[in-house]
Amino acid sequence: MTLLSPAVDLTEVDGVAILTLDMPNTRANTLGQATLAELEQAFATLAGRSDLRGLIFRSGKPGMFIAGADLRELSSAEITPELSRSLVQRGLALVAAVEKLPFPTVAAIDGAAMGGGLELALGFDYRLCSTHPKTELGLPEVKVGLIPGWGGTQRLPRVIGPALAGEMIAAGESANAERARQIGLVFDAVPADRLLDEAKRLLAWTTKSGDWKAQREKKQKPVPLTQEQASFTFAVLAAGVAAKAGPHYPAPMAAVEAITRGCPLPLEQGLAVESEKFVPLVGSPVSRNLIAVFFQTQRLGKDPGVAGPVETRPIVQAGVIGAGLMGAGIAGAHVRRGVPAVMLDSAPAALEKGVTAIAKSMAGRVEIGRMSREEMVGALARLSTSLALPSLSDRDLVVEAIVENEEAKLALFRQIDKLLPPGAIVASNTSTISITRLAKAVAAPDRFAGLHFFNPVDRMQLVEVIRGEQTSDATTATLVAHVRRIGKTPIVVKDCPGFLVNRVLFFYLNEALVLLEEGASPRAIDKAATDFGMPMGPITLTDVVGLDTSLYAGKVIQAAFPDRSVTSPLIADLVAAGRMGQKSGAGFYSYAKGTRGTDDPALEPFLAKVRKAPRQHDPRELVERLFLPMVNEASRVLSEQVVRDPGDVDMGLILGTGFPPFRGGLLRWADAIGAGQVVALMQKYEPLGERFRPSAMLSDLAVWNGRFYQGK
Ligand code: NAI
Repeated sequence: MTLLSPAVDLTEVDGVAILTLDMPNTRANTLGQATLAELEQAFATLAGRSDLRGLIFRSGKPGMFIAGADLRELSSAEITPELSRSLVQRGLALVAAVEKLPFPTVAAIDGAAMGGGLELALGFDYRLCSTHPKTELGLPEVKVGLIPGWGGTQRLPRVIGPALAGEMIAAGESANAERARQIGLVFDAVPADRLLDEAKRLLAWTTKSGDWKAQREKKQKPVPLTQEQASFTFAVLAAGVAAKAGPHYPAPMAAVEAITRGCPLPLEQGLAVESEKFVPLVGSPVSRNLIAVFFQTQRLGKDPGVAGPVETRPIVQAGVIGAGLMGAGIAGAHVRRGVPAVMLDSAPAALEKGVTAIAKSMAGRVEIGRMSREEMVGALARLSTSLALPSLSDRDLVVEAIVENEEAKLALFRQIDKLLPPGAIVASNTSTISITRLAKAVAAPDRFAGLHFFNPVDRMQLVEVIRGEQTSDATTATLVAHVRRIGKTPIVVKDCPGFLVNRVLFFYLNEALVLLEEGASPRAIDKAATDFGMPMGPITLTDVVGLDTSLYAGKVIQAAFPDRSVTSPLIADLVAAGRMGQKSGAGFYSYAKGTRGTDDPALEPFLAKVRKAPRQHDPRELVERLFLPMVNEASRVLSEQVVRDPGDVDMGLILGTGFPPFRGGLLRWADAIGAGQVVALMQKYEPLGERFRPSAMLSDLAVWNGRFYQGK
């Protein structure tokens, strides 16, 4: 074995070279500039070895081939069009060097071959993969606002066909071992321990048959399609992708264009088309923001939730009290991820409904192939139900999700406190009640916290882990680990009205009401928000949440922050008239006969009553009015240390409200505008009220031109 360089080593067995990539001191191989240089050197060495019978390229890390390009390099402040062009040239030259080696080549893939990793593997005559559960092949560049730049948009269509390749690249989807074999992305999928031997066998066969030469030639030529086939394939692809990606995400369409224009050409020219599309995307605001979100996701995936080292307690069995909308969702999430759970309710009918809801949601997963029938049976077997509190006596964690009534919750906590085993943790799913106050009902408030799931639990990734004044580090860290175990993303939040997400979101919903009073139409307000990138405008969102719930939750936040929240009589009037939103068939919009929300003339009298001097608002004002008060409140959340990192605010809003990831999050959006400009814009609206008076933190940042993400 010869170590060619720190990450690359070369062995020769019976005339076959085995090149192994194993970057030191890291769990994943990535293709940064240093590794590229090492691989360049290795392939240059091999180019002169016409004595060899073949090459097998693999990773030294079991279950991890190559994770992709180094995203830090691609989003660094120093990245310029020149630098990205030179990175493209180097990557392209590396893959081309593989394609020119004077002997057959096999990439032996065990684990993830993503992005640049798969593009490199596409330069080999064959790809052979392992059936390891972590084996995954894909070009996910669009997810970070880019397209493949090392030939992926050209070689993948030549290997698996342009329609399939287009779909995979534009959606950033990957294939597991079985699928990769089916679509011809790999020659075969074999158990990991046989990968090397099978690669050798493949080399022996192809040396004899000469098939490797045909494989190579095929990739150099245009994709063999007639004019009609090509125009049909590419038109279908473009229409599907344009509809899905929308105006804020340019990368998927850029990928489609690279494929459409490049595939009818010889490879060399196709690659030039790809480069032309790739370079402007690198370092673009959308790409930088999406990469930032990617790194925040990674950070949250590891964040222990507390500063110091603490020991977490294993949660072997859980209990959920309340089998309603939220309770059933929470119990379902537990059993689906292997944690046995008893679901308890005081009403037998509620239990029955809850179990049906869990089973229905799992059946839906089975239908779309995200769960197997066996997994569903196993999950349901872990679920039990009960009408009696003593069934909680062996639970390590109990999550309460009964009605939002402080007295009822306190009474329940007093009762269960006597029943639970020593060391058990009690958590409440309340959305509005103080965790510190609720904790007074139990003997050990250090083992009491909030676990705030979002509705629908099944689809919403976020769980706020709420620390009451006395919640201990050990409890917090245990809950953080547990939330992750049941497949959700935890964010630790200090107890305060509205916690993180609802507190900041309130100012968006509240401003929408003020705008209605000033004469803006519900449609115009919603459109400004969705044009900005929100999945739903604030008026529609209020209808979806339910006006009664919004009224109640709003009152809690208004009471807590009376200086900066405005009380509009609008929601109370609508609730009094029975207009509760989507669930009652009408709120701000009409949902008659299952429509998705149409303008409703019956809303007019309610608006007329509150409108004093109606005026028109331009879309820019609507955006500033909706989002600047959110930024202001988010800055308060940060300075009060409700969360520990600006990334917590941004990820909380992305995961909890669908705040547009391409903007990188609320605070990253504010950073892009600049604190000085944010403050100047707010001052313009200051006569409207305290909510537009910049917080101390914002004013401070404006003075020294600072950023929320200082040095991050
Ligand atoms: P729900 O009304 O659908 O369900 C509550 C269930 O608790 C009912 O089945 C009821 O029979 C049961 N229950 C009431 N008192 C009980 C008691 N003393 N012992 C046992 N069971 C009892 O309510 P939902 O929407 O599931 O909300 C539950 C909690 O989750 C509330 O605290 C709410 O604020 C919170 N939450 C609700 C969200 C939502 O969007 N609905 C989002 C996040 C939190």
